Amino acid sequence: IPAPAALAGAVQPTVIAHRGASAYAPENTLAAVDKAAELGIHWVENDVQRTKDGELVVLHDDNLKRTTDVEQLFPDRAPWKVKDFTAAEIARLDAGSWFDPTYADARVPTLKQYMDRVELNHQKLLLEIKNPELYPGIEKETLKLLGNEGWLDRPHLASRLIVQSFSADSVRTVHELKPAVKTGFLGTPPVSELSRYATFADQINPSYGSVSTGYVASVHAVEGPHGRPLEVFVWTVNDANTARLVAGYGVDGIITNTPDVVRDALPAQ
Ligand code: G3P
Ligand code: CA
Repeated sequence: IPAPAALAGAVQPTVIAHRGASAYAPENTLAAVDKAAELGIHWVENDVQRTKDGELVVLHDDNLKRTTDVEQLFPDRAPWKVKDFTAAEIARLDAGSWFDPTYADARVPTLKQYMDRVELNHQKLLLEIKNPELYPGIEKETLKLLGNEGWLDRPHLASRLIVQSFSADSVRTVHELKPAVKTGFLGTPPVSELSRYATFADQINPSYGSVSTGYVASVHAVEGPHGRPLEVFVWTVNDANTARLVAGYGVDGIITNTPDVVRDALPAQ
């Protein structure tokens, strides 16, 4: 489908590589960050959880089965939850072969390793606090690490970092602990609830199938905690037609496993 006429002159949505460029490299690994950089993609999304000994690591599922060889290395440790393994144990796992044998040396990165790579690549980070109910205090620990890494300095705060979660409580906690950090709520709250979310979230980030032009306009009509209109980043859009469709809704960002496809589907600025 052609680019909607309504897009002419409009600001092109930000393209965010979901779990890195995860269609082309194993999700949430440094290889997926680098692949996004290679494609010229500035924003990467990741998922942050916590090990048994308190290390923040980057992984989507609450267990290690799908994306590592944990069952082979630790056959008697079912159900292989992230929270039941130490950082040293997790560092031994192959986090790439499940995707492609050429990635056998990929590891589950610590959040510190991940942020260092994003920094090295001059990229920006949409950080998701995943399953926060399993990790009490993870918001404070994440902010502490971000601060130690220099990510709470003004240039990062202003344009290079967003912290999001499906948990409204977690997003609210981040906002209260560090009000200057830009935040996003993952979900599609009813329009009548948006002003309540706007007290702690700068973004409303829904599944693309749950939004419309009207919903996006309703979100934009509400002012967020930093005095700017709430933004909308939708997920997970992996084809050109859907990218053009949601761009026509007026979304501010598109989270995608195929960031090159989405970028190339949108009109050049
Ligand atoms: O960033 C949006 C998206 O990541 C939310 O879904 O399950 O991939 O974390 P999920
Ligand atoms: Ca995520």
